[in-house]
Order: sequence, then C-alpha cells, then structure tokens
Amino acid sequence: MAQVSRRVFLGAGAGVLAQAQSAPPSDRIAVGMIAVGSRAQELLEAIRKIPGTEIAGVCDAYSGRVERAVERTAGRAKVFASYKDILADPSIDVVTVATPDHWHKRMVIEALEAGKDVYCEKPLTYAVDEGLEIAKAVKRTGKLLQVGSQGMSGGNQQKVREWVRSGRLGQVTMIRASYNRNSASGSWLYPIPPDASPKTVDWEAFLGSAAAHEFDLERFFRWRCYRDYSGGIATDLFVHLCTTIHFVMDAVMPAEVAAMGDLYRWQASRDVPDTLNAVLRYPQGFTVNMSSTFNNRGDGGAGFQFLGTEGSATLGFRGAVFTPENMRENNSWIVQAWPSQLEEAYYRSAAGKAERAKRAAKKPEEFMGDGKTGATVLHFENFFESVRKRAKTVQDEWAGHHAASCAHLINDSASRGEFVKWDFDSRRQA
Ligand SMILES: NC(=O)c1ccc[n+]([C@@H]2O[C@H](COP(=O)([O-])OP(=O)(O)OC[C@H]3O[C@@H](n4cnc5c(N)ncnc54)[C@H](O)[C@@H]3O)[C@@H](O)[C@H]2O)c1
Repeated sequence: MAQVSRRVFLGAGAGVLAQAQSAPPSDRIAVGMIAVGSRAQELLEAIRKIPGTEIAGVCDAYSGRVERAVERTAGRAKVFASYKDILADPSIDVVTVATPDHWHKRMVIEALEAGKDVYCEKPLTYAVDEGLEIAKAVKRTGKLLQVGSQGMSGGNQQKVREWVRSGRLGQVTMIRASYNRNSASGSWLYPIPPDASPKTVDWEAFLGSAAAHEFDLERFFRWRCYRDYSGGIATDLFVHLCTTIHFVMDAVMPAEVAAMGDLYRWQASRDVPDTLNAVLRYPQGFTVNMSSTFNNRGDGGAGFQFLGTEGSATLGFRGAVFTPENMRENNSWIVQAWPSQLEEAYYRSAAGKAERAKRAAKKPEEFMGDGKTGATVLHFENFFESVRKRAKTVQDEWAGHHAASCAHLINDSASRGEFVKWDFDSRRQA
C-alpha cells in the first residue's frame, strides 16, 4: 500500500497543527541524551539516521553506557557529568529522557523549564497526577513534548486506524490486546555488565527521589522488576497497547478499569506481577481485554484484534490483516424441528432462500507494513518536524498522560481488587 504520508496523517488524524510560540532553533538540531541505556542506544541509532540532527551530548549513571554512546557517535558526543549539566548547556536544543520511569517527571519538567524540547520515553509518568504537572509545564514554557510509544508513527497502526475510521470494520465493540513472553530476558532478568560496581555505577543518581536502598546491581539493571522505579507489565508493556488503542480508536481514556495481577513464577526476582489481566470500558462503546503473561508465548508474543460487526483487524509488529465477517444466517437446526411442510415452506420464503443462496466468501486483506524504516525513526522524524515547525507533536503530553494513566489505573485496580474510574473533567482518577 502507499504509505500514509506523514503530512496527510498529521492533517487528517492529529488535528490542526497548532503553532507554538517559540522561535525555531538553528537548522541543525543539537540533541542531549539524558540516559543512554538499552533503549536510548536504539534512540541514538535512530537519530543518527535523520539529517540535520546531531547527538551533541550524553550522560548516564553507568559509565559503560556513556562509553558505548560516545563510540557510536565516533567520539563526537560530549560527555556530561549529570543531566543538570546537559540542561544548563545553551547549545543543546532538545533532550531525550530514557531513564527508569521514576525519574521522568522531574527530568521532563526541568528540561522544559530550561528551554528544551523533550522526547520522553514511555511511560510518561510514574503516577497519574505527574501527567498534570507535566502538561502545566508544557503550557507554561511553550516548549514541545513528544512521548516515545513509536508504533503509531509506523504504517501498520496507521493502516488499522484508517480501516476503523472508514467504517470498514463496522461497529467495533471489543478489542483484545496482549503481550506475552516466556524467557528470562523477556521477563527483564537482563545480564549485569561484569564491570558494574560502585566505581562505574552512580547509585544515588539512579535512586533520585525513590526510597533509600543500599547499593544493589539487580535493582539498577533490572529496575522494571521493582515498584520503586516501575509499574511492571502495566507501565512497561500495556502503555504501548493503550497508546495504540487510543490512536486507532480516537479514544481518550476508559471510563472504568478492572484488573488482576499475579506473581506465579518469577517470585525470587521481583515485587511486580508476571501475569496481568485487565478489562477497560470506553465511553464510546467498546471494551478492551488486555492481558500479559511471562510464562507462555504460544500465541506469538504481542498483538491486537479489533473486532467489528463487519470485520476484524489483527495488528502485530510485522503487519495488519483485515478479515471481513462472512456473516450468514442459519436456522436449519430450528426449522428441522418444525412439521416438514412448514420447514419446506420456510426454504421457499425470502429468508429461507437467502440462507441457502451460494455466496462467494469475502477474502482477508493483508498489509505487511512499510518495512524499510522502523517506527522509531519515523517517530523521531515526526518529532524533529514538530520542533522545526514549532507544531504540536504526534504524541503529546496528553496522549502520554492518558496512556500512562491507564497503566496506573490497572495497577491500582489490581492491587486494591476493585473497579477504578476515570474523571474526564479533572483528567485524574475519580
Ligand atoms: N519505546 C520503546 O519501545 C521502549 C523500549 C524499551 C524501553 N523503553 C523505555 O525507555 C526507558 C529506559 O529503559 P531502558 O530499557 O533503556 O532501561 P536501561 O536500564 O537499559 O537504561 C536506563 C538508563 O538510565 C540511566 N539512569 C538512571 N538514572 C539516571 C540519572 N539520574 N541520570 C542519568 N542516567 C540515569 C541508567 O544508568 C541506565 O543506563 C524506560 O522508560 C522504558 O520504559 C521504551
């Protein structure tokens, strides 16, 4: 398929490009990277592919990652001792924030206040109300914020959105979304670099405002396993699913959420669930069934099914498939219990004839993505275009606030064992 051009997409989907107030930076956009961990090294490679940008500086709480980032920029990136030094440097135009989640709000707000545009990895927040503080800071400073759930900038999700918006699926009342894994690495038990020690790891910088804890390399390198720094499956994986669902369905938030979280297998390594099931009811008239287990990936990992009265869209990393509903009435098992002459008469009637009429089955249609350019590069292209034009980003503070808030509601429901509700007026948990 012809890829939906970003301009068309922005015009049709994300609303009118709002003009922000600040002047555009010089042609070359200087990027400061706050944290250059696993994800940020991917961000770095994506940014390197985009003309007119430069990785000007990096910092990280583990020296090995700084070393690797500098190597990736062929020695050009300047090493900063801390994120505060990056923010204080007037030659840096934009920053990326890719630390553990408990740091996001503080770094994002400080960066905006320092006059930088910000690309922050998902989840935007560690707790619901942090999103409101961030939105206020965006408004106050006139700077731009884009959140890093990159999938929406890729062709697959845009295609499914197009199918839904055109009415091709009919009335969509149910969505299934899952993220399943069955490995230690998939369960966040990452290898710890052999040179990690108090000499190479800045433990206090990692902790920030989190609860005090003695030096612990497992916490540092496997922070997703601990509530002190992460919301586990909900904030790591479901936040992507929610971002996509909101994008595809033009939805803001579920009105209510019910969830159950359980730790069945990986008890020794974490205090967050390894199995999470959630139901989210949206006011537009659809319900989402969201689930994740770290104990089986028989269904192939991650994906969505958007189920409509006229067809379903299956969406995965590699592509999307539209499968039309081949609806057919069949009352044969009812009329076979009638007197024979009434059964025969039924099949002479219009309704009966229609049941027996031969019809060609409607065929599924596959869309196998735009392939060559990954969604992260496309997401950054969108971001830098917004920065240059001082235009609204494709995944702004509210999109980030809402997707992360879904994850926080899910965790709250699971830990309290109750339905939880969203207040649309205050944009907070009710
Ligand atoms: N969009 C995606 O598909 C995607 C994929 C993976 C991770 N992520 C997100 O990216 C973020 C980082 O995840 P990761 O997998 O790279 O984790 P990571 O542990 O590999 O990297 C985090 C880095 O932050 C550094 N850090 C911690 N505190 C710091 C501080 N005060 N100053 C400077 N550096 C500090 C750590 O040293 C570490 O290198 C998370 O928010 C995660 O949810 C997004």
